[in-house]
Amino acid sequence: MASDSSRWLLNLQGRCLMTCALLLLAAVSSEQLSENFYDAKCPQAMSIIKQKVDKFVNADRSIAASLMRLHFHDCFVRGCDGSVLLNSTESMLTEKEALLNKGSIRGFEQIDEIKYELEHACPGVVSCADILAVVARDATVKLGGWSWPVFLGRLDGVVSFADEVNGSLPTRLDNYAKLVATFAKVGLDAKDMVILSGGHSIGKVHCGAFFERLYNFQGLNITDPSIDPSFAAFLKKQCPQTDPFGFTALDATNGTFDSAYYHDLLTNRGILQSDVALLTDPLGVEYAIKAVSDPQSFLFEFGQAMIKMGNAPGPAPYGWRKHCAFVEHKPC
Ligand code: HEM
Repeated sequence: MASDSSRWLLNLQGRCLMTCALLLLAAVSSEQLSENFYDAKCPQAMSIIKQKVDKFVNADRSIAASLMRLHFHDCFVRGCDGSVLLNSTESMLTEKEALLNKGSIRGFEQIDEIKYELEHACPGVVSCADILAVVARDATVKLGGWSWPVFLGRLDGVVSFADEVNGSLPTRLDNYAKLVATFAKVGLDAKDMVILSGGHSIGKVHCGAFFERLYNFQGLNITDPSIDPSFAAFLKKQCPQTDPFGFTALDATNGTFDSAYYHDLLTNRGILQSDVALLTDPLGVEYAIKAVSDPQSFLFEFGQAMIKMGNAPGPAPYGWRKHCAFVEHKPC
């Protein structure tokens, strides 16, 4: 199998012979990230991003969850390098097209709008990967979450491969051990996994993502008996078997970032099989009880875990992108 850099060069050659390669920069290790990275180079960067997030969420509250999720999907696949934002080209099928992402992740236009504004204010300074990290924080805070410092200075990747998504992102059918193993690949431990799953405190889910639990538990054409019966009835109304593309809320208070997700788990009102799997381990049970009895500790720890996730390492080479959706090749 070709190395990342040779795959990238092949893509570049095949695509356009009369172009110059992007200036490639050395990878920035996570220790070099700093909270005030843009203070001198683009002092208005943080306020531009926040104003934009405020505007988007005021217009459509549901976009906050989608924006937050983008950072997670970015970091788990070749590190936090903005690769999730790249459009496919003739020679490169990107992460966006992967089964786990297509038709599910959204918020790209909003990120492009933020990038456009930042390029206008401070050309060539703020990376797409950093935009995702700050947007994730600001979107969470906008829905009631606690703020956390975002450490900055990430560089953007110049490649993105759909076939890397499988195996990098956790899936809805994963059991506890599989979830732990997938998070471990990006330097996150079991507790981080349990805390970050609390991201499902906001947002929505396609009905088809948990149809097995509602209609065909273990292939038996029955409802998962572990679901609270009145909740199962509610979900069936929300998600009739004929409508896998309908949506329902990921938790009881999905417009507010809080610890209700863990309360739902403890009362047999979890949605995804992977959510419910958290309670199959004592650590998950212990954490869910703690998050419910001390919601503020969850709000704090979620931010700490997001900082850790934002350090997920990725392979070189790295560059910097003027556009988040594509790599600009300059004529020679
Ligand atoms: C633990 C493993 C995880 C699995 C298996 C998982 C799986 C999923 C699935 C299947 C959906 C619904 C997608 C759809 O129906 O289109 C979803 C939505 C979502 N996930 Fe996760 N997820 C996980 C962890 C996380 C983490 C760590 C975060 C953030 C820190 C997160 C944030 C979200 C958000 C905010 C949504 C709602 C998106 C929206 O409303 O647009 N998830 N997730």
